[in-house]
Amino acid sequence: MTTENDIKKLGPWFHNIHLPNGNQTAPNHFLGDFPSFKWEKIKEIIPENLTGWKVLDVGCNAGYYTVKLAMRGANVTAIDLDAHYLRQAEWVAKQFGLSEKITFRQMQVYDIARTDEQYDLVWFMGVLYHLRYPMFALDILSQKTLKMMVLQTLTVPGKKEISMPKDVNLDEREIIRAPNWPSLSFIEHKLAGDPTNWWVPNHSGIRAMLHSCGFVITATMPEEETYIAMKSEDAIASTDTWNHSEYLSAIGEKWQKEVKKKTNKY
Ligand SMILES: C[S@@+](CC[C@H](N)C(=O)[O-])C[C@H]1O[C@@H](n2cnc3c(N)ncnc32)[C@H](O)[C@@H]1O
Repeated sequence: MTTENDIKKLGPWFHNIHLPNGNQTAPNHFLGDFPSFKWEKIKEIIPENLTGWKVLDVGCNAGYYTVKLAMRGANVTAIDLDAHYLRQAEWVAKQFGLSEKITFRQMQVYDIARTDEQYDLVWFMGVLYHLRYPMFALDILSQKTLKMMVLQTLTVPGKKEISMPKDVNLDEREIIRAPNWPSLSFIEHKLAGDPTNWWVPNHSGIRAMLHSCGFVITATMPEEETYIAMKSEDAIASTDTWNHSEYLSAIGEKWQKEVKKKTNKY
């Protein structure tokens, strides 16, 4: 069977992948040469040599980024809930001769909580706003991140930041109506015709969420709506402090002892 036939049989494609033999999987993509035009900007801020790095690609789709990262030497675990996309990704990895560097799994992002692995780099592009439980997913992934997360999300337009008070008095809640206060807007029906676009943070909202998970965000945004978040000992994840018991309960683990410990501490 020819590559063209395989591409047709495995379609429809969301990633336009330039295959080693010159064929493309979705040359007429509605977004243009997607996601190459994103990768071209992001690739500069990712270490050129990822040998020895463990990478998790969440919502890998047809594996565009999975393959790019494996080509840099990383061992990649690539997950997606959709078997259709995983079939494409497995086939793409084979075309590049990279199957040995990549482990594909049909998983929900939340399933990662019940795995033992940790990852130097967590690639979390284009998934957050599709989730009903975005903060939960970020909490889980932050626990699994050793060095770096690359996160892309739809956002409310605008990039203004505000300086966050450490506390808000009950009678000063007006401040929460400030235009750039961190927010996560809920979409009850559809956004761009898609009923799975549930939550849209604003710029300060996604930054605050990442801070709250123990990340420091680098000044450089290599691409629109794309955040480079680094694990730092100076940043404290909320799940490690006052409410670790809530996290443990949410992932189905025993939490009662934890709550006693934390109550003594705070
Ligand atoms: C908009 S696409 C983004 C694909 C790719 N990460 C990118 O940035 O080009 C969203 C992908 O995430 C997958 N996905 C959505 N919800 C998910 C979940 N809860 N767990 C794992 N994958 C999910 C979808 O099947 C789809 O392949």
